[in-house]
Amino acid sequence: MAAQSRKQQQTRYNILMISSEMVPFAKTGGLADVVGSLPHELARLGHDVRVVIPRYYAIDPGRYSLEVALGSMGVWMGETLEWCMVYSRDMGDGVTVYFIEHNGFFGRDGLYHDAAMNDYLDNPRRFGFLSRAGLQVAVDTGFAPDIVHVHDWQSAAAAAYLKTWFWDNPILGKAASVLTIHNAAYQGIYPKHHFDYLGLGWNTFHADAFETFDHINLLKGGIWFADLVNTVSPGYAREITTPHGGFGLAPYLSNKGNSFYGILNGVDYSDWSPENDRQIPARFSASDLSGKLQCKEALQKHFGLEVNPRVPLFAAIGRFVDQKGYHLLAPAIERALNEMNIQFVILGSGDPWLQDIFGSMPGRYPGRAGSHIGYNVALSHLIEAGADFFVMPSLYEPCGLNQLYSLRYGTLPIVHATGGLDDTVENYNEASGDGTGFKFWHPTVDSLYYTIGWANSTWWDRPGHMARMITTAMSQDYSWDRSTAEYIAAYEKAIANKRAYDSWPR
Ligand code: ADP
Ligand code: GLC
Repeated sequence: MAAQSRKQQQTRYNILMISSEMVPFAKTGGLADVVGSLPHELARLGHDVRVVIPRYYAIDPGRYSLEVALGSMGVWMGETLEWCMVYSRDMGDGVTVYFIEHNGFFGRDGLYHDAAMNDYLDNPRRFGFLSRAGLQVAVDTGFAPDIVHVHDWQSAAAAAYLKTWFWDNPILGKAASVLTIHNAAYQGIYPKHHFDYLGLGWNTFHADAFETFDHINLLKGGIWFADLVNTVSPGYAREITTPHGGFGLAPYLSNKGNSFYGILNGVDYSDWSPENDRQIPARFSASDLSGKLQCKEALQKHFGLEVNPRVPLFAAIGRFVDQKGYHLLAPAIERALNEMNIQFVILGSGDPWLQDIFGSMPGRYPGRAGSHIGYNVALSHLIEAGADFFVMPSLYEPCGLNQLYSLRYGTLPIVHATGGLDDTVENYNEASGDGTGFKFWHPTVDSLYYTIGWANSTWWDRPGHMARMITTAMSQDYSWDRSTAEYIAAYEKAIANKRAYDSWPR
């Protein structure tokens, strides 16, 4: 172990990341948080990290102090040569971010879909191009990566371009690839008439690589070509390799053998710690929780709830999509509001019918329920800080970040025991008072309702256990240190796999 960590300290990698999201530039979910943190953590250890993302319309070059890195860059796709421009921003800590400007593809308001939630029909072209252009940035800037690290279906094809178009390229030919799957449900499945444009060659359009039921499957192709694949928690890695798991990907992931496994996401505690969070009205820590009460008061006022420290406040934040299980939460929390002395607030947007149900709750439970339909980072910090319980009934959850933030803010998570939620929350033991939250195993309205009831009764009847759990929760450490070390070990393994691959006789 000591020898391994010494080796990790000595090896300095050139790492090229390609992603469709990155905090603070573009975000729809946790992918952006991860790509906004991991490169900086790697750079802190001395690695040279370059990240490539699209220059979406909303990323204003002036506001973000972008500089022109390449006045024009030609990118060969299968059918055509695309021209784009590349901006860059030196983040000042060893990370450089490149932004691909291609107005035809990225000069739109949405990242993946329009305001009516309709997927852009040319998404395979947009992100196939991003994957190919990300590699071209390395070539045109003379940056020879040891590792090309790609994320989700949006950049998965880069793993294939490396082993096809660029297999003997002097800059890219030796690079090993790592593909991180943040969500196996989104695979980038599109009609095959886009395949010629991608230029991946029809010999890769087979069931083990880019083909699924006669459609293109970008994520599956990436899994086939990547030298190592990981997902964002060990629990989710197990789930998606079970015979019925992985939305059809299980056999292909299992085929990777020990080159597929889970690495838990870390948390950026410089952003998410009650001790130094500037976005909340008062700071607090496990040894002095008085600031948490002030935050609770501010949260109750913000949503027009009765200001009362004694009533337990339940909260939820997230995208209103099937994955998150809010269709269970809506009836369960209504029932709880009808039968228990609790308060509830929710922040999120997505499915219109969930927006209607949650949006109308404050009218139906005046002074007891609050909702904000939309996206609001400052409010998400206030909710994490001011609530007592945080509900995550996700049907599946590759990692989940909000339960990790909740633990740190002493806001006990109530979670469906799945994926990363199961890995990171320790169930309450009513005999001893141990644990960091409340779990249920069956994703049904009843299970969730009874678990909310269990949390509520713990609040009223066992305050000593509550206090103990809050302290335990706040002391959990999900910082990036451990995850970053695991990524570096993954890079080493990917490089070894690539060397072995290169040495096979052809
Ligand atoms: P996912 O990526 O599947 O949406 P995660 O839990 O990994 O789930 O990450 C979600 C991230 O997005 C968290 O940082 C969460 O606080 C944030 N988030 C989700 N919805 C909202 C919202 N409406 N307003 C502010 N932040 C939000
Ligand atoms: C995905 C998953 C979420 C995970 C995030 C970052 O959006 O749904 O569970 O935390 O990616 O890896």
